[in-house]
Amino acid sequence: MSKKMPISVTVNGQTHDLLAEPRELLIYVLRERLDITGPHVGCETSHCGACTVLMDGKSVKACTVFAAQANGASITTVEGLGTPDSLHALQRSFREHHGLQCGYCTPGMITRAAKLLEENPTPTEAEVRFGMAGNLCRCTGYQNIVKSILAAADEMNAEQEVAE
Ligand code: FES
Ligand code: FES
Repeated sequence: MSKKMPISVTVNGQTHDLLAEPRELLIYVLRERLDITGPHVGCETSHCGACTVLMDGKSVKACTVFAAQANGASITTVEGLGTPDSLHALQRSFREHHGLQCGYCTPGMITRAAKLLEENPTPTEAEVRFGMAGNLCRCTGYQNIVKSILAAADEMNAEQEVAE
């Protein structure tokens, strides 16, 4: 039997100490041990992006990160981007612009888009499509996903101008 190792991981601001198997994946720690079920499991092979989370500020696919690699890291999932009373601009925008159909890809789409807009607050449509290429939507709702991200960028930039 493999030896478990102690890890400490902070998810959406809350620190969790646990024992992880060397082969255990971050997505299963989040979903099955910490009950953080926003990130979904789609392909488990790094193709679909349903499991996307932010790890120390980078967007990563949690199905291809070992829990041990997340030791000491700070993770943000879609649950950590906004609250039901105060949604993130992307969460509002996906709702308003019909950026989802079944919703399975949505947590990963929104989390990835948050990183994309942090890196490029004023993306073109082509830059959004390129930046989101690692996230697949089985419902093929790409038109409205792109529209939602561009609208969120506009809203975030307008808020920024008001704040300045
Ligand atoms: S489940 Fe991780 S990329 Fe598909
Ligand atoms: S909305 Fe169904 S997979 Fe994207």
